[in-house]
Amino acid sequence: MSNHELDIRPVAGRIGAEVAGVTLSADLSDATVAAIDEALHRYKVLFFRDQGHLDDASQEAFAARLGEPVAHPTVPVANGSSYLLELDSHRGGRANAWHTDVTFVPAYPKASILRAVVSTASGGDTVWANTAEAYARLPDHLRELADKLWALHTNAYDYAAAKPAATRDQIERHRNVFASTVYETEHPVVRVHPVTGERTLVLGQFVKSLAGLSSADSRRIYDTLQEHVTRLENTVRWRWRAGDVAIWDNRATQHYAVDDYGDQHRVMRRVTLNGDVPISVDGRPSRAVSPLPAAAIAAE
Ligand SMILES: [Fe+2]
Repeated sequence: MSNHELDIRPVAGRIGAEVAGVTLSADLSDATVAAIDEALHRYKVLFFRDQGHLDDASQEAFAARLGEPVAHPTVPVANGSSYLLELDSHRGGRANAWHTDVTFVPAYPKASILRAVVSTASGGDTVWANTAEAYARLPDHLRELADKLWALHTNAYDYAAAKPAATRDQIERHRNVFASTVYETEHPVVRVHPVTGERTLVLGQFVKSLAGLSSADSRRIYDTLQEHVTRLENTVRWRWRAGDVAIWDNRATQHYAVDDYGDQHRVMRRVTLNGDVPISVDGRPSRAVSPLPAAAIAAE
C-alpha cells in the first residue's frame, strides 16, 4: 500500500468508515494526513482500531496535523493537557442527546478526535448521523423551508428538564461549569460546508428556538427536521474498544452517546479542531448574540 492510499472499509451505508493499517501519530506523512482529511469529508466519521499507543500528548500532537486544536469554551482541560476534554462516566460525562459539538459559539469546531481510554464490557456505543444526507434527502418543500430558517443555540439549556434522572451534582456541574459563561449564537439551519460545498443541517441539543416563530411552531418544525437527521438509515453506530479513535466532521454530523451501561466505567478524551463561522445558503454568516464580540460592543 502506498502511503497515500488508505485501507477504507465503509461501516454503514450512508456514513462511517473504518480505516485499517494506520498508526495515528504526529509523524504521519503529509500525503497520509491529506488522505485522512479527504476520507473524513467523504465518510463524515472515521474509526481507527488499536491506537492504544496514544497518550494525551500524542493525541494532541496528531490532532494538530489535521487542524488547530482548541479547548472547550467553558469546561477546564484535562489535567496536564493543553486542549483535552475528558468524558468520564463516573464524573457526569454522558452525552446522551443528539448534538453537534459546541454549536452555541459562532465558529464551532470543524472536527473532533475522540479516543477511548477505558471502554465498557457492554453498552456505551456512540451513534453518528449524517446531516448532509439528511438535508439532501429532505422533500423539496422542507428543504426550501429549512434554507430560510435560523436557530438560536445556547449552552444554557434546561439540563434538569432534558435529564429528569440527573443528580443534584450533575445539575450543579452543568450550571457552574458547562454554562459558567452563557453563550448564545444564531446559526442558519442550513450551512454550506466550506470544503465539500454540501448543505448540512445545523440542529441538535443546543437549539433553543427557531427565529421568528412561536415556541410551539419552533418545537414542531425543529422536531420535523431533526427526525430527518436521526433516521436510522442515516446513522452509524460504533462499539468501542479501549484504544479506538473516532474522528468526525463536526460540520456534517450529529452524535449521541448511548447511556445504557449503568455503573461501568467509561473514559474518553476528546480534542476539537478550530472551526469557521457557518455561512447560510444566501451567504450570511452566523451571529454571536451573547456574549457580544468586543468589536460589536465597541461599536455600540
Ligand atoms: Fe459531543
